[in-house]
Amino acid sequence: MYVLNTWYVAAWSNEVTRKPVRRVICEQPIVLFRTQDGEAVALADRCAHRAFPLSEGRTIGDSVECGYHGFTYGPDGACTKVPAQTTIPERARVRKYPLVEKDGWIWAWTGDAELADPADVPDTHWMVDPEWATVTHSYLFKCRADLIHDNLLDLTHESFLHKTTVGDDYIYEHGITVEVEGNVVSVDRLMPSVEAPPLYAETMDARGLFDRFHCTEFFVPNLHVLHSGITGEGRSREEGYLIKVLNGITPIDQHNSWYYYAFSRNFAVRDAQATEDLKTGLATVLDEDASALEAQEIGMQTRPAGEFDVLIAQDGGVAKARRILAALLKQEQAAREGAPAARIPAAAGRA
Ligand code: FES
Ligand SMILES: [Fe+2]
Repeated sequence: MYVLNTWYVAAWSNEVTRKPVRRVICEQPIVLFRTQDGEAVALADRCAHRAFPLSEGRTIGDSVECGYHGFTYGPDGACTKVPAQTTIPERARVRKYPLVEKDGWIWAWTGDAELADPADVPDTHWMVDPEWATVTHSYLFKCRADLIHDNLLDLTHESFLHKTTVGDDYIYEHGITVEVEGNVVSVDRLMPSVEAPPLYAETMDARGLFDRFHCTEFFVPNLHVLHSGITGEGRSREEGYLIKVLNGITPIDQHNSWYYYAFSRNFAVRDAQATEDLKTGLATVLDEDASALEAQEIGMQTRPAGEFDVLIAQDGGVAKARRILAALLKQEQAAREGAPAARIPAAAGRA
């Protein structure tokens, strides 16, 4: 059902403090907190004693104390104290999740801990690079993660759903180039000699014609990096106004997902008003996506068995990503049934 041998964004760094916080990832409840030294820890959010959520308890030193009968667990998940007795039962421990904190995100590994390699966390440095300015949002999308993946891999929806912000009819008139490298699918669209979209035209003060482009790079199954922007007609992309939109997509369960969003730009970097305008404008875009995908989720749930998506040429990336996702799921299934486990290979990503 879920690819587990991967890193999922579990929280923003600033959401994890000394006070335990709960997240559900792929139906696994996880408690996150910081030790006295500030190191983030992720444990199963279910006390070994009688399954009370540890996120309802409190931290004491580097440990978390269950708020029900006081079992206390160290950052390795081992129980160190049972208030009612001096001996500690051997099975009194909770699962510890491998964790990486990088560029403002905390990533948790939901699968076989032995396969967790921090080097596999994709590049997200734009979020903290001083040459870039970043606007962020967090959303709970009431839909399965697959619908968010499809949404980001087929940006023709911008022409219809986001008419007033980032959409324009010319988007779907331009074809895409799809590339696959390992577990990364790239869907690139170049739109030569067009006007900048309304939301950006203001911030960039961009009037006239430009070459517009967007390339969704999907690191299956956890992150989409959207390399987007406008540049002078016939000029290289690097010379233009560049945007990197990082979309951390984390399944909660079959019908709900966490959406961690960061929009980094290399123009008007110190313009506080631009940042504020983008924050508001991008919230509109995300609200439009959230309500469309929620409606689509209901459509999926009420769709009769035997009816399937009708994929078209613009869905080239969607089809490739689904194939990779299916292969990863099959690989994990086989590993569970005895074949050697496999780790998703690291992918370099684009500059
Ligand atoms: S349920 Fe946690 S100590 Fe009893
Ligand atoms: Fe959208």
